[in-house]
Amino acid sequence: MSRIAYVNGRYVPHGRASVHVEDRGYQFADGVYEVCEVKNGYLIDQTRHLERLDRSLNELKMRWPVARDALPGILGEVVRANRVMDGLVYLQVTRGVAKRDHAFPAATTKPALVVTARAADPLAAEEKAIKGISAITVPETRWDRVDIKTVGLLSNVLARQNAVEEGAQEALFVDEAGIVKEGASTNAWIVTKDRVLVTRPAEHGILRGITRQGVIDVAEKHGLSIQERGFTVEEALDALEMFVTSATSIVMPVVRLDGHSIANGEPGSVVRDLRGAFHSVAERTPVYGQLN
Ligand code: PDD
Repeated sequence: MSRIAYVNGRYVPHGRASVHVEDRGYQFADGVYEVCEVKNGYLIDQTRHLERLDRSLNELKMRWPVARDALPGILGEVVRANRVMDGLVYLQVTRGVAKRDHAFPAATTKPALVVTARAADPLAAEEKAIKGISAITVPETRWDRVDIKTVGLLSNVLARQNAVEEGAQEALFVDEAGIVKEGASTNAWIVTKDRVLVTRPAEHGILRGITRQGVIDVAEKHGLSIQERGFTVEEALDALEMFVTSATSIVMPVVRLDGHSIANGEPGSVVRDLRGAFHSVAERTPVYGQLN
């Protein structure tokens, strides 16, 4: 089946979906994005993703490309057009097309909106979660506004490539004090030996992950203790369990860090239970009408 993308008001075949060479996203990374999970025909946590998009746009003084309440309809249409039951929907807003000049273009320049959707194999994701992943640590090299979800991801790309070259699946940025910040595309967590969930506070040093917030909701519902504070690499190596969260991995155990096993090198029960409970707590918006 051919894939369909939404580009500035049109639904077009994926192979012909393109933007102008002077789109400011392309030339300056002057844009923001969101990735939402699609699970079993439902969009997960759409409201929070759109709230974060609104915040990112505001922080960069960008306008909404369409009316805010029109966006869910477009996301749903792209998911349906691609017949995605499990996978993700990606949306990107840039400041639009204008003659190359660093300062903002005329206020009349229309922001550009692109939406794509892609299926993913839920069984493969489960198999990955059963095994857990390896991570490496890398020094923080990003700007200090990583709380804005911009498409400027070069440090994240290089960090992830580093991980791949070392046989790992994620790279965790570590600040000068040796405190873990977050992954190249995930938030980072540990479970201490006394079963406390620890994750860095959602200040400017990390992206305010929607899945991170969902895990906090699950933990609160299940009476688990949470500490929002930084943790060191040493603390992570000494932890009971470690995991990362994102819309694409949900809750993913980390079983090796910089080549050392975390605990016995196998995913633990706290992470397994959080992963199992996540979707019963998250907001679910039906894309194909009510399924179950
Ligand atoms: N990344 N931190 C960073 C740097 C991220 O890029 C992401 C998400 C997260 C987790 O946020 P959320 O739970 O809202 O997905 C944390 C997406 C999935 C990506 O770039 O593909």
